[in-house]
Amino acid sequence: MKKKYLLSPGPTPVPEAALLTMAYPMMHHRTPQFSAIFAEVKEDLKYLFQTKNDVLILASSGTGAMESAVVNIFSPGDHALVVNGGKFGERWGKICESYGLKTIWLNVEWGRAVKSEAIEDALNKDREIKGVFIQGNETSTAVSHPVREIAEIVRQRDNTLLIVDGITAVGVYDIPMDKWGIDVLITGSQKALMLPPGLSFISLNDKAWKFNETARLPRFYFDLKKERKNLKDNTTAYTPAASLIIGLREVLKIIKSEGLEKIFKKNERMARATRNAMTSLGLRLLAPEAPAECATGVYTPEGVDGGKLLKSLRDEFGVTLAGGQDQLKGKILRIAHMGYIDTFDIITAVASIEMALRKFGYKVELGRGVAAAQEVLLEGY
Ligand SMILES: Cc1ncc(COP(=O)(O)O)c(C=O)c1O
Repeated sequence: MKKKYLLSPGPTPVPEAALLTMAYPMMHHRTPQFSAIFAEVKEDLKYLFQTKNDVLILASSGTGAMESAVVNIFSPGDHALVVNGGKFGERWGKICESYGLKTIWLNVEWGRAVKSEAIEDALNKDREIKGVFIQGNETSTAVSHPVREIAEIVRQRDNTLLIVDGITAVGVYDIPMDKWGIDVLITGSQKALMLPPGLSFISLNDKAWKFNETARLPRFYFDLKKERKNLKDNTTAYTPAASLIIGLREVLKIIKSEGLEKIFKKNERMARATRNAMTSLGLRLLAPEAPAECATGVYTPEGVDGGKLLKSLRDEFGVTLAGGQDQLKGKILRIAHMGYIDTFDIITAVASIEMALRKFGYKVELGRGVAAAQEVLLEGY
């Protein structure tokens, strides 16, 4: 029997307490019992998002919340500035184009973060831009974008919103919606929230709700105004993903009892430990300048097929990491460090990479990366 370790940047492992509550017999969602759970979750989500605004719960993967942001705020022909530094930035642009927005692509080299000055320039060039779309962390390249600086720029403009895909940012690092002035913030269940895929979350501030009043794009299932009305009554417009919401109550309890600050520190430490380990093995980081704290991206060495390495790690060693997409396919590994991933999962990931690299003929001193990670991880004890 092989023990399996899940260290991909989504889905991430689910804590036992959440797994157990989700295994309880099905509960009907239009009952006072379910509404009581919903009421609890509704408040705790505000803690997670660091906002006083409502956080709406949708039954979809993260992309559903991304699409809902576009269709509830904009009208055909509106100008949208999209930061495209990887697969998920590209997704923002594709959604905007699908709905007939005039999409201005701000392309960023994969592995790099956008510069806030580039956003400012683009906004100065086109005064009609109504939305700036970005990721908190661009998971596909393991890069962190400077959301705080960008929020400062965008909040000066009454006619422009900042829409942040925080799918691998919320609950990973400190990204306070209200304090930074993020207008729309999104996340999904299968990352820092430690749940199976299937829920997404979106919060709009007053400025964004104002845009909603005149937005003319078509929408039905993802009608956020309708969801907001239902949220007030502790329910959803349509059948909620009830079991996931029951699990959500459990993970939010865990997050609250641990405290966001402690979680952010731990993630930062695990990210730094992973980078330390990888560079000590002579591997090159994908995003050395602006690395994300949700996952570390690292190039596989010359002569080692990344796809085969990943497969061996998964099928022989039992350790599931992620690879790269498009031009990075077969060239990188991505190791997650968020949610229910802890010190000894990182040690496992590093040890398995060392062993697999040795197996693939790369000269590696076994234990070197592990020791480099331990040096950093020990700070937490
Ligand atoms: C930053 C980011 N945005 C969007 C998505 C897409 O989310 P989903 O696959 O849940 O639709 C992901 C998933 O990995 C992501 O990491």
